[in-house]
Amino acid sequence: MALWGGRFAAGSSNMFRQVNDSLPFDRVMATQDLQGSIIWSRGLKKAGVLTEEEQAKLEAALLELKTQAENDELDFDASEEEDIHSFVEAALIDKLGDIGRKLHTGRSRNDQVATDFRLWVREHVDSLKADLKALIRSLLNTASRHQQAIIPGYTHLQRAQPIHFAHWCLAYVEMFKRDLDRMRDLKKRMNQCPLGSGALAGTTYPVDREALAEELGFDSPCLNSLDAVSDRDFVLELLFCASTSMMHISRMAEDLIFYNSGEAGFLQLGDAVTSGSSLMPQKKNPDALELMRGKCGRVFGSLQGLLVTMKGLPLAYNKDMQEDKEGAIDTVNQWHICLCIAVEVLDSLSLNEDRCREAATQGFANATELADYLVGKGIPFRTGHDIAGKVVLAAIDKGCAIEDLPLSDLQAICEVIDDDVYPVLQLEYGVNQRRILGGTSQETVTKALYRELENLDKLE
Ligand code: ARG
Repeated sequence: MALWGGRFAAGSSNMFRQVNDSLPFDRVMATQDLQGSIIWSRGLKKAGVLTEEEQAKLEAALLELKTQAENDELDFDASEEEDIHSFVEAALIDKLGDIGRKLHTGRSRNDQVATDFRLWVREHVDSLKADLKALIRSLLNTASRHQQAIIPGYTHLQRAQPIHFAHWCLAYVEMFKRDLDRMRDLKKRMNQCPLGSGALAGTTYPVDREALAEELGFDSPCLNSLDAVSDRDFVLELLFCASTSMMHISRMAEDLIFYNSGEAGFLQLGDAVTSGSSLMPQKKNPDALELMRGKCGRVFGSLQGLLVTMKGLPLAYNKDMQEDKEGAIDTVNQWHICLCIAVEVLDSLSLNEDRCREAATQGFANATELADYLVGKGIPFRTGHDIAGKVVLAAIDKGCAIEDLPLSDLQAICEVIDDDVYPVLQLEYGVNQRRILGGTSQETVTKALYRELENLDKLE
């Protein structure tokens, strides 16, 4: 029976129930709803609304339901209830009769759902942070396995300058560290308790909101009842955190898809994260990576969807806000899966270091080294840049690399070029010159790798 049945002579239509009922999805917040209810019953006892005995019975019944929820034993599918809040209340009344009917005193589903959802988001922030840390660890391990490997670095997807493969790994470590930081920040801001805000205006019962907040692990109560029941910023922030992180995952996937292509041939992906073609027997497709990229659409869509849902809503609660859940639940699932599969991809990839090296030496990626060499000989950089460009043209003409041009050809373009240019044009030379903080020299990258490995356990 609906919680609000008294004022109604007729029941809801089937179509209305389809649009209105949220139990099919808000059932994921069962344990949070039960926990919130336990703490609310304690608040009511302290406020003199419930006797000690009534509260003890309520708490015992709620705990029983909570254990059932944790063991997946609650039969939601057989229920006619509208949402998780009415489901729990009905189950309580079923167990306790009139005592069960007392729990909702001074409370509204509006402050209840706001509380449940915050508890749910908070728990997922913690588990997703653990997922992010696992991915960072996997990137660091991947870097450790290939500390000497050099790949071409790209801009505009044109070979630009050679970099250590570990440097590439560490770039993504920086991104995922920022994602972690955003989650920490979100948790700090969202950790306020709406309970006690009632439908919109607070409650007449003298419930200790500070105590409610503390018992539910919040830092403090929300300070305005209207805001408490209408605020969904914490969901939007979660969706933004997820979107940004998924964008990072997607860029990493895109890099790996390219590195794995026949054209690049830098790496092989593990069998467990690839699939074949139903028609072409030779194929091994990077499906896991493509899906990490593809899932971004729905995650970004959920962020956009909720922003649009919220933007026109008058204070305080409106049923539109029930649309906050499905996108968030889906996003949390997809993000979790993508973070986990990213670990599997990285742990199982094998880098073809020889091929990487070969590609890094092609495409005149040492032209900047030549310009810098000329700077060392007293030539202004802009002039050196121009000379190096002419040298590249000469090499293209001859169909060879810069370092394969004889000294006479080089000197015909610029007479200050000497024999000492050849070591400068070697692959490792240019890479290892970049000892600057944040650069790609062997020394800098190894230092960064050990720094991050050391910091990993300290990351919250
Ligand atoms: N199922 C609702 C939601 O998710 C709970 C709040 C309902 N409140 C109300 N006044 N109808 O938003």
